Amino acid sequence: QLNSLAVAAGLKYFGTAVREGSVSSDSAYMAIVNNKNELGQVVSENGQKWDATEPSRNTFTYTQGDIVPNVAKKNGQYLRCHTLTWHSQLPSWVSSGSWTRATLQPVIETHISNVMAHYLGQCYAWDVVNEAIADDGTWRDSVFYRTFSTDFLAISFNAAKKADPNTKLYYNDYNLEYNGAKTERALEVVNIIQKAGAPIDGVGFQAHLIVGSTPSRSSLATVLKRFTALNVEVAYTELDIRHSSLPASTSALATQGNDFANVVGSCLDVTGCVGVTVWGFTDKYSWVPSTFSGAGDALIYDSNLNKKAAWTSISSVLAAK
Ligand code: G3I
Repeated sequence: QLNSLAVAAGLKYFGTAVREGSVSSDSAYMAIVNNKNELGQVVSENGQKWDATEPSRNTFTYTQGDIVPNVAKKNGQYLRCHTLTWHSQLPSWVSSGSWTRATLQPVIETHISNVMAHYLGQCYAWDVVNEAIADDGTWRDSVFYRTFSTDFLAISFNAAKKADPNTKLYYNDYNLEYNGAKTERALEVVNIIQKAGAPIDGVGFQAHLIVGSTPSRSSLATVLKRFTALNVEVAYTELDIRHSSLPASTSALATQGNDFANVVGSCLDVTGCVGVTVWGFTDKYSWVPSTFSGAGDALIYDSNLNKKAAWTSISSVLAAK
């Protein structure tokens, strides 16, 4: 089982995102989630985001946010917590407000201190800032960047440290795996935070990848090491590898397995890569088809909850360590 193999191979966990709506409605799905030997870590797919936790100013609600942490508690699994300062799923009172530094800083600080206090002691790690970089490697246009330039990074990480000094504080983003302009900018994110004297413990590689275009195990390890050289840990935080067209042929499913093995293998190759999280484990539930029309089947169990070739490839690479 994947988490047991991952732990035996030296990782802290192999885990998954959990869709809140399925926790009470899908017992076959939950039988896999609740198997700690298979999935040793969980993360909320949506429930801890700003629109769910502070839909209007100073009104904090944790109904959705508590669902997955309660699963982790019951099963004794690691919990990753996701996410605090992010331009998306941000309620319009924040995204469309007219702010100055003086008025927006307390909004960020109040959000972070309340949400993190609610989950105090429960999160192995928090994705403090998510996706601050645009796809071309420039800074992402957001209410945070427009108001603070890059100062919102240190503001967020300092607030997080104050709220929970014992959780790992992560910067989390996608397309860092390709060693391109976005990767360079993410290295700069770490530098900016460290130079400001603010705390950062980790960088999350989301790894929303594409079958047949996933970098090799050695290139992936090379990129991870560029970050661990800055004294932060790394993790794959939202791994999925989508087919560009469906249905996937047997050979495409084998390629997908090979791609998953390369990603997991690269984590095994790097001291400081702590674990791998898939962004859902079954093709039954995934954000991919609604975002990339025609693409999908990006996970390691099929939509009937049967293990795919990708599952076998991952188990082999973990067992070989
Ligand atoms: O909850 C409503 C439901 O009431 C309504 O009936 C339904 C109809 O559209 O929408 C539901 O909300 C959806 C929500 O997921 C819950 O399923 C939103 O429309 C939809 O936009 C939202 O998508 C999420 C997406 O983040 C939003 O940015 C995905 O589930 C989630 O997997 C995805 O996750 C992100 C990570 O947080 C950050 N990195 C990228 C990753 C993939 O986009």
